[in-house]
Amino acid sequence: MGIEQKIEELRARREAIEKGGGDQKIEKQHAAGKFTARERLQMLFDEGSFVELDAFVEHRSTDFNMANTKAPGEGVVTGYGTVNGQLVYAYAQDFTVIGGSLGEMHAKKICKVLDLAMKTGAPIVGINDSGGARIQEGVDALSGYGSIFYRNTMASGVIPQITVIMGPCAGGAVYSPALTDFIIMVDKTSQMFITGPQVIKAVTGEDVTAEELGGAITHNTKSGVAHLVGSDEKSAIALVKKLLSYLPPNNLEEAPYYSTDDDLNRIEESLNDILPDNSNKPYDMKEIITKIVDNGDFFEIQPFFAQNIIVGFGRLNGRTVGIVANQPKVFAGSLDINASDKAARFIRVCDAFNIPLLNLVDVPGFLPGTDQEYGGIIRHGAKMLYAYSEASVPKVTMIIRKAYGGAYIAMCSKELGADVVYAWPTAEIAVMGPEGAANIVFRKEIEESEDPVATRQQKIEEYRSEFANPYRAAARGYVDDVIVPAESRPRLIAAFEMLTGKRESRPPKKHGNMPL
Ligand code: HXC
Repeated sequence: MGIEQKIEELRARREAIEKGGGDQKIEKQHAAGKFTARERLQMLFDEGSFVELDAFVEHRSTDFNMANTKAPGEGVVTGYGTVNGQLVYAYAQDFTVIGGSLGEMHAKKICKVLDLAMKTGAPIVGINDSGGARIQEGVDALSGYGSIFYRNTMASGVIPQITVIMGPCAGGAVYSPALTDFIIMVDKTSQMFITGPQVIKAVTGEDVTAEELGGAITHNTKSGVAHLVGSDEKSAIALVKKLLSYLPPNNLEEAPYYSTDDDLNRIEESLNDILPDNSNKPYDMKEIITKIVDNGDFFEIQPFFAQNIIVGFGRLNGRTVGIVANQPKVFAGSLDINASDKAARFIRVCDAFNIPLLNLVDVPGFLPGTDQEYGGIIRHGAKMLYAYSEASVPKVTMIIRKAYGGAYIAMCSKELGADVVYAWPTAEIAVMGPEGAANIVFRKEIEESEDPVATRQQKIEEYRSEFANPYRAAARGYVDDVIVPAESRPRLIAAFEMLTGKRESRPPKKHGNMPL
């Protein structure tokens, strides 16, 4: 064969592989509202930048007629390219090839890109659409999953790992996504569960559809397993690109800088009267966030789960900041089990990837009740204390209104290592709210007075003016300054600029023992 024929053969072989499971299977995939693995990668990567690896890999399984079963590309497309101009690795499971099921060689392809991503310090995006472990390959398939879990864990905190679920994801297969930093699902066409509806019916008798059990809405609202949801595959991929824009390529580098035309010294007058007169009335903390960050652009993570706390990314002077903020609109902004888990995990992602933390505080306390106590709020709430104390990135806390009790500390008070703490003049920093405090401290006086109702009210006011303000805390240096709300943006930008060179070491240890 001459070179021209050899090149022709190469082209023909590659073309056959690129057809995956063939036209019929591709049509079926499209009819289900899903793109193919290659189409998804085209959407993800900057035009023409994707380079495929291992297209010619084949399985070597012979059981259950596998010797006669072709699996082009081994059911997964792997490679690298650029996203927003930055190097990114990816794999996309190809459902048209044996249902995207994972066998020995399929797993090896994924492990290879994970290893390359680690060696070169670049993020990895996994697009999952698979029937799980390839049943015909038995323990080889399980071993393949184990190798991926191990690499996901080694890569954790070193390179950002993002998983997009674009089809079924069952059994142990959900655990690779769960080990990554972010999970993005697609509404109605993606599911994640440990055991499917039929097994549940057989074991517990419970009737549940796959969508109710493990669809995007379930995992974005109820379980907190997923972080984001796209209304379709295109919007899910757009979310991946946006997310990547806030993250550094690895733990030794900074997040990319995006220059902004938003004035660094912008005074936002509307912040001076954004709070309701009555401090027990709710308002939307997201309005404060968007008035402060560059161009009002706030990228919320887990927007539908534990809505009493808000977490997400924004930029100040072009630099990524991770924002953790109480939401007074939901449970008055109190901290509960889910909010603690959500915040602690986000804080650790930011710390691992050198993203400074901005904490906006309006918290009346931890949510009381047997549900919370039996569910282990002590254990879960402790995660926030742990995550903030452990974080060595710049930490700036701004107390907007309430900062009561343990929740004041848990929202990153000075003692947990906040480098700068600002308070608005509306801040109320105390062991508990005036109503609760008056009932306990002045109980006798109230009971013995001629008009207990009036006396109680008077004591509440007394307590409020004495303690429920920022000046007690500022007098001790727990608050560095009390600032005019309208000046929040320039003051925060200045604080983070000042902290750019922050270096803080931790005692050497194998790893801490975070309460889980
Ligand atoms: C081998 C599989 C497969 C698998 C699907 N296929 N899953 N082949 N191993 N795990 C094949 C089907 O036989 C079919 O082949 C093709 O993929 C498409 O599947 P369909 O069933 O036709 O598609 P659909 O109706 O859309 O249903 C998709 C599905 C279903 C819901 C994913 O296929 C399914 O329930 N699969 C099994 C799921 C599962 O239990 N997996 C094991 C999980 S345990 P043909 O030739 O007909 O096109 C696990 C352990 C991991 O993963 C442990 C890690 C620690």
